[in-house]
Order: sequence, then C-alpha cells, then structure tokens
Amino acid sequence: SCDETAVAVVETGPVVRSSVVATQIEMHAPFGGVVPEIASRAHVEMVKPIFRQALVEANIDLAAIDVFAATHGPGLSGALIVGVAAAKALALATAKPYIGVNHHEGHLFAAMLEDPSLEPPFLTLIVSGGHTMIVGVDAIGSYRILGRTVDDAAGEAFDKVARYCGLGYPGGPIIDRLAMSGDPTAVRLPRPMLDDGLDFSFSGLKTAVVRYINEHPEVRIEDLAAGFQAAVTDVLVTKLFRAAHLEACTTIVIGGGVAANSALRTAVRTEALERGLHAVIPSRTLCTDNAAMIGAAALGRLADPGELPVGARRLAGGVLPNLRLG
Ligand code: KG4
Ligand code: ZN
Repeated sequence: SCDETAVAVVETGPVVRSSVVATQIEMHAPFGGVVPEIASRAHVEMVKPIFRQALVEANIDLAAIDVFAATHGPGLSGALIVGVAAAKALALATAKPYIGVNHHEGHLFAAMLEDPSLEPPFLTLIVSGGHTMIVGVDAIGSYRILGRTVDDAAGEAFDKVARYCGLGYPGGPIIDRLAMSGDPTAVRLPRPMLDDGLDFSFSGLKTAVVRYINEHPEVRIEDLAAGFQAAVTDVLVTKLFRAAHLEACTTIVIGGGVAANSALRTAVRTEALERGLHAVIPSRTLCTDNAAMIGAAALGRLADPGELPVGARRLAGGVLPNLRLG
C-alpha cells in the first residue's frame, strides 16, 4: 500500500509460514518521503520475485495455496493496484478465492499473530505513517473508531520532524535511536489535546519543535528527539488508557509502524501493568507494514461464514474450522 513490497504465507492458527518484506526506503530517502510513482514501479518489479521467495521460504507449492489476499486500501492507489492485480491474477489462474483486506484491519491482526489466543473484545491503538486511531474491536469484522487524529498522523509527525532536522527518512526509527541517548525532560514540548477526549492532533507539536529549534539552536538533537518522542508517547498512552477506562475494556493492543517505538512500547507495557490490564504488543517486524498481518486478517474473514467470498465456503467448515475469532 505504500513503500513495502511484501508477500507472506499464513496458515490457520494463525501461523506465519514465511514473511518476506522488500523495503524501498533507500529509493525514497533522497526525497525525504515516499514518491508514489517510484513506489508503484518498484512494486511492479519486486512483486514476482518476492512472491516466489515467500513460497520457497514456506516450502510450499503454488497449488497448495487455498486463498489469495491483498490489501485494497487505504494507501497509494498506484501501489495498491499492483498487489491487488497480482493476488487476483493468482486466484484466477489457480481457480481459488481472492479476499481484499483493509490495511488497518491488517495492523489489528498483527496482534493475533503475536498472541493467537487473543479474542475480542479489545481496544487497539493503530499508529502508522498515514493514520492514528483508537479502534474498539467488539468482534472480528465489527469495529468502532473511538478516536482519530484531526490532522497529522503520529508517524507523519515523526517523519516531518526528522526531515526538518535533516535526520533522514523514515524519521521514526531515527528519532527512536537518537532518543535513547537523550533526556526526555530536557526539552519540554506541548501535549496537544491531552485533556480533550479521544482524538489526537500532532501538527501543532511539529510546529512547536520548529519553534524550539529556532529559539534554542544549541539544543542537543538527542534531547530534542527524546522530548518529542515523550510528548507523542504521552498523548497516545493517555488516550489509549482513557478509552480503556471509558469502555471498561481489559485488553489493549497496539499496531502500525509507530508501535515499533521503544518509548511507546515501554509506556504501554508499564501503564497496563499498573492498571492490571492485559497488553498485547506485537514484535517490531509485525508492527511495521508486512504481508503476514494481511494474511492473518484474511483468515479471520474466512472464519466468518457471512463474509465468505464465492468459492471459499468449503474452507469454513473444513480446512479452517478452528479459526473462530469473532
Ligand atoms: O505502518 P507503517 O509501516 O506504514 C504505514 O501504514 O504508514 O508505518 C510507517 C510509519 C512511519 O511514519 C515511520 O516513521 C514510523 O511508522 N515508524 C516509527 C518507528 N518505526 C517506524 N515511529 C516511531 N518509532 C519507530 N521505531
Ligand atoms: Zn501500515
């Protein structure tokens, strides 16, 4: 959907048989962000070899694949069309069903791969380069958006701050690394909308960073990174646990690229422990974009007979009987 070409083989459990991710970071880095035309062309070149590699690593033949899935959005249309066309072509050629998966639903299912015993209801914080939202998962396929960003996404804020500071792309991992040798209390930045419901706002925080640098050009970049990360984390964690309180929900989950952030992971783990809540924090490679989470979401769909695409019905009672997540 963006700048990662990824193919995975996933089976009931859900269990990941293989997960291959080809990132285009180096192609986009000189531009300080993803260039859609470059992304689409790279997907066209990469999708076949990555698909073959996923089959080899899973040690499985094409004929043994029961269902093909791809994310059909949200994302860059030129990128999405490559994955959808590839999955549909494979489904057509092998006379197997195709399932389109929402990208956010994929991020939500990363937690199921981390902990296959996870069952709704739970709350998920999805934080990526394009989106920031708190989703109430009542059942698989039954989602309520409880809060969302009113402007920039959390990942976007990381990327924009890093770009302004000339640190490189993508900003999240770079700021995360710098912050490890910084003092999170040295640079005090605002916590936008902290006391205000479940929605988020990050564009003002980015402006505050710019202002801070102009007024304190001597600031240690590590302290600035740590201060910025602390502000983002504070807001995300406060709202996530506020939502858990309001919804009387005892299980919380995080997903999306920003969920790979060290400070956020520690804060969610600590806060959950203090409040006696169960937190599922997927491994970093499951947080950033990958195809295994899309496969897991497709399996979740197959477990719901009401959602089955034509041709997939026989799987629900036979091959995938134990995947009753809803
Ligand atoms: O979910 P993802 O891989 O792609 C989208 O769906 O957008 O998220 C990418 C975003 C980028 O903004 C990147 O800077 C951010 O996730 N990110 C991080 C970290 N790793 C990736 N942000 C903060 N800390 C990290 N360690
Ligand atoms: Zn994503």
